[in-house]
Parts: sequence; C-alpha cells; structure tokens
Amino acid sequence: MAIRRILGKNEEILRKKSKSVKIINGRTNLLIDDMLETLADAHGAGLAAPQVGVLRRVVIVDVGEGPIVMINPKLTYTNGEQETVEGCLSVPGEWGITRRPMSIKAEYTDRDGNLMEIEASEMMAKAICHEIDHLDGILFTDKVLRMVKESELVFEDDDEGDGEGGESSEDSGASEGKSSKGASGDESSEAENSEKPFEVGSGEAAEAGNSESSEN
Ligand code: CO
Repeated sequence: MAIRRILGKNEEILRKKSKSVKIINGRTNLLIDDMLETLADAHGAGLAAPQVGVLRRVVIVDVGEGPIVMINPKLTYTNGEQETVEGCLSVPGEWGITRRPMSIKAEYTDRDGNLMEIEASEMMAKAICHEIDHLDGILFTDKVLRMVKESELVFEDDDEGDGEGGESSEDSGASEGKSSKGASGDESSEAENSEKPFEVGSGEAAEAGNSESSEN
C-alpha cells in the first residue's frame, strides 16, 4: 500500500471521463488499497480514482462510518435538494455552497464483484454525487452556487479544517477535507491485463454518466 499524490484542480486528468472497470484484478485491488490509505491520510470524506491519476470508475466515500468502495457507481434515483458546503481534496482550501439531491439510490459493484445498491441521504448522498462527478470530469467548483471563505466555515471541533466528523449537520458538510500537496509527476491510467478473478456484472453501470441526476 502506498499513499498516492492527489491531483490538483488544474490538472487535466481531472477533466477526463473515467472508463468503467471490466475486471477486478490485482491492479484494481492495489489501486483501491492505495486510495483507502490516501483518503485516510488526507482525512477526506471521499476520493475518486482520477484524483490519484487513474481514469477508472472507482470511488471511496467515508463520511465517518467507515469507507465504502464503489466500483462503477451509478445513480439510479435522486430526490429532493440540499444546499450545503462542499470541498474537495483536489481543491484544497476552497469551499462552496452546492445544490445536491437530498437523497439518492446508487448501484455499484463492490471489490468482491457483487452488485450492490445503496440508499443515502444528506452528507452521504452529497459525497456519492461528488465522487461520481469526478468520474465524469466534473468538479464541485463547476456547480457551486457561491464560494465561501474558510473563515465562514464552522467546524464541529477546534481542529480547523479536519472535515472528518461523522455527525451529519449543516456545518460538517465541508466534506472532502483539505490538504494535499502540490507536486508534479504524472501517472496515467492503468491497464487491466493481469489475472481475472472477477468479471464485473452489469455492463450497464459502465455507461454511467450522471444523466439520471435530477440536479439543476
Ligand atoms: Co472531490
């Protein structure tokens, strides 16, 4: 396992559309393990593979109840609206109010190859939408209603900026956390050509996109 560099908002890879995962192999598992470690290190609420330079449809969300690894995630239902503060590990130190669905359902494949469904609301719904957006080259700054200054943010504890708290409240919405180093270097997307332990079901999830989303 290793901590990978988190790309910053101006890096082109973040603007590209990620490819679906067809086979969960050793490389996929290494990517996931590294993403878990990278996310934990950054104290974030979520991380998408393109943020570590890999254009594959893999995300992790962790809003304080433990990380959920989602392969080929796809929104299948959205309902309602919430306007909360959002941040991103690729956009450190910047925060904004966004409008997201209040509740969602999503399908994804877990790392054992099982097709899963999740229902989520509030912070978790926001986090899943945010991460799926990354897979389509979308950053929260594209849909922000208004940016907010860091001084306007109220965190639940005194540890400024550690947006990790598990409680869902209007203030803990500053989700993806801060930090991430600038740095350079360039990783490109991974090939998938090792062993084939699992075939990923449902080819549909591959097309994904956020067309089902009712945001607007
Ligand atoms: Co993000």
